[in-house]
Amino acid sequence: MPGGAGLAATSDVNRIEAPVTWKAYMICAFASFGGIFFGYDSGYINGVTGSAVFIEIIEGPGATALTGSHQSLIVSILSAGTFFGALIAGDVSDIIGRKFTIIIGCGIYLVGVILQVAAHSLGLIVAGRLVAGVGVGFESAIVILYMSEICPRKVRGALVAGYQFCITIGLLVASCVDYACKNRTDTGSYRIPIGIQFAWGIILGGGLLFLPDSPRFFVKRGRVEKARASLCQLRGQPADSEYVEAELAEIIANEEYERSLIPAGGWINGWANCFKGSLFKSNSNLRKTILGTSLQMMQQWTGVNFIFYYSTPFLQSTGAISNTFLISLIFTLVNVCSTPISFYTVEKLGRRPLLVWGALGMLICQFLVAIIGDTVGFNKSHVDASGSTIANNVSAVNAQIAFIAIFIFFFASTWGPGAWIVIGEIFPLPIRSRGVALSTASNWLWNTIIAVITPYMVDTDEGDLKSNVFFLWGGLCTIAFIYAYFLIPETKGLSLEQVDKMMEETSPRTSSKWKPTTTFASDMGVKEGEKLDHNIEDVERKGSIF
Ligand code: BGC
Repeated sequence: MPGGAGLAATSDVNRIEAPVTWKAYMICAFASFGGIFFGYDSGYINGVTGSAVFIEIIEGPGATALTGSHQSLIVSILSAGTFFGALIAGDVSDIIGRKFTIIIGCGIYLVGVILQVAAHSLGLIVAGRLVAGVGVGFESAIVILYMSEICPRKVRGALVAGYQFCITIGLLVASCVDYACKNRTDTGSYRIPIGIQFAWGIILGGGLLFLPDSPRFFVKRGRVEKARASLCQLRGQPADSEYVEAELAEIIANEEYERSLIPAGGWINGWANCFKGSLFKSNSNLRKTILGTSLQMMQQWTGVNFIFYYSTPFLQSTGAISNTFLISLIFTLVNVCSTPISFYTVEKLGRRPLLVWGALGMLICQFLVAIIGDTVGFNKSHVDASGSTIANNVSAVNAQIAFIAIFIFFFASTWGPGAWIVIGEIFPLPIRSRGVALSTASNWLWNTIIAVITPYMVDTDEGDLKSNVFFLWGGLCTIAFIYAYFLIPETKGLSLEQVDKMMEETSPRTSSKWKPTTTFASDMGVKEGEKLDHNIEDVERKGSIF
């Protein structure tokens, strides 16, 4: 297409996105595979740190347990890597594109895996987990960004929920692999669980090589023809599709509008843009950044990882449950099986109801667990003749376990996917990559903080909270309920460009009633079927990295 020609724009708010074929849905769903890294990496280490062979390699012959400081270093160093990886990846994805950032993330991850498999001592294990963590950070931030930008708006929520589904599968696979390897007496007891990660990197990185990059990235960089080709592939449309033309025109018109509000600058200015605007204006960049980072913080505050990281020792301490692995496996299975419900509900009911009602469901379960535990369950135990601690009322402990499983059901069908979906949708294009990166980094930061402090709350020689710890999680879920009611906007069914407009024109509580009435192209004075008066060479010249 020669420079200077325009794009046929539309003023019809329903025509701003091309229809989609099945193949195109599959392309969009593929990237959700990245969730497997996330889940597997969070999960597998619990089994490895319990392996006798691994313990001897780290602590020396004859050792039967890792020292507290080594345990905490090995577990938490991954999160340190992911935190920085997510932040760096935001910048990288604006320079080389979303797709290649994920592929590079896979490469970094593979290097980290090789270091860990080769390890004979603490040093390489820690270095390997740090490097792998950077890779996980790259892919956990940018897969969300990439998917939000390529998915058709009507199923964007459902497809991004697929990412959460893969996280849950990763956690499940990790616990099964750990279980299968736990009695091995050779180095396979830790090398197999670690080595399996290799497959995740190869599948995601290799598969992505065949997929197009995000059209919104190309528009941001001013490469209009690349954006068009990518849209055609993503929507399964021919090169001359008028739908693709209208969708592209809308993305460009929105980018030009946003760019006039948030001018590009250097690297520092790019970051500074994320914190600009008033704290009291719900659509300011600062508020969006606070919304994304606090939403991920709240997701961690629900206490879900207390169950996934510490349920085994926690359940063992009641003395009432003989097969704690089985119960942990049931929690993991509930997590996997409940997540697909959100594929439907997130598009049918919307993001807001999911987060509001999900928090209510979770807080009720958490308080019930705490109250039962404090009155008749978990906290009331005696020491039997053999010297072991046994719960006085095993049925009450079983009831607590049932409510924990219902809590997981609520998390998996609401806040688990919901937090990832919303952070991919609320940021305008000029700050989107950094906004998503900051929000993902916040998830990892709080994940680590909670992982590090919870043992102190429940250890018998520390806080010894027993099941009273659920009063804390219940309290935090109550905050999440109020938070979601006042602060989460409804983004269902809108294009990312329409989300910008909705956040400008409504408050979170009224957002679900908002309907688009104009397109960005028509706001720029373009009538139906007319050409969007932009000059491609101009856009290409303007294309800025930051
Ligand atoms: C959370 C993780 C959690 C997982 C459980 C994710 O959305 O961010 O921290 O372990 O869900 O399925």
